[in-house]
Amino acid sequence: MSATADMPYFINPSKNISAKAKREAYELAEAGINANLDDEELMILKMTTINCILKTYLPYYYWVGFYLVHNGALVVGPYQGTLGCLHIDFSRGVCGKAAREEKTQLVADVHALAQGKDHIACDPNSQSEIVLPVFDNDKNLIAVFDVDSSLKASFDEIDQEFLERILKRHFEELSLKK
Ligand code: SME
Repeated sequence: MSATADMPYFINPSKNISAKAKREAYELAEAGINANLDDEELMILKMTTINCILKTYLPYYYWVGFYLVHNGALVVGPYQGTLGCLHIDFSRGVCGKAAREEKTQLVADVHALAQGKDHIACDPNSQSEIVLPVFDNDKNLIAVFDVDSSLKASFDEIDQEFLERILKRHFEELSLKK
C-alpha cells in the first residue's frame, strides 16, 4: 500500500496551540501517564499507553509511536496514526539520526530535508516532527519515540522538556520488563 495525501476517516489534521495551552495539556497528559503506568513494568503497556494519552491531549499529534532497536536497526513498534514505515536503518531519516546521536531531534519543516536520506516520508502529510531516544535502566538505547504533525513547526522545547521527563521516568527510572 502506498502513502497518499488523503487522511483516513479516523485521523484529523493537526491543530497548533499556544505555549500556555501546550503546557496545560502536557501537565494533564503527564499526570494521566504517571497514574496509569507507575506500577506497570511491561514495555508494551508503557508504549501503548503513552501513545494513547499523549495523542488524546495534544491536538497536533498526527502520528505518535515508538521505533524499536532490533538487530542493529529500527523496526516500528506500538503507534497511533497512519501506516508507519516498518524498517528504518540507523543511517536514514530523523529517527535514524536520533538513534545514532542518542539525542533529541526537532525538525520544523521535514520537507526541507533531503528526502529518503535525512527524512523518510512514511506519510506525505507529516510536516514537522520531534524524535527522542529512549533508554533503559542501563542507559542502553532501546527505541526512539517519534511524533509527527501535519503542520509546520509544531514542536519546541516545551515538547522536548515534557517528553524527555516522561520517557526517562517510565523506561529508565522505573523497572522495565520486555
Ligand atoms: N519520521 C521519520 C519516519 C517515520 S514516520 O514519520 C512514522 C523519519 O524521517 O525518521
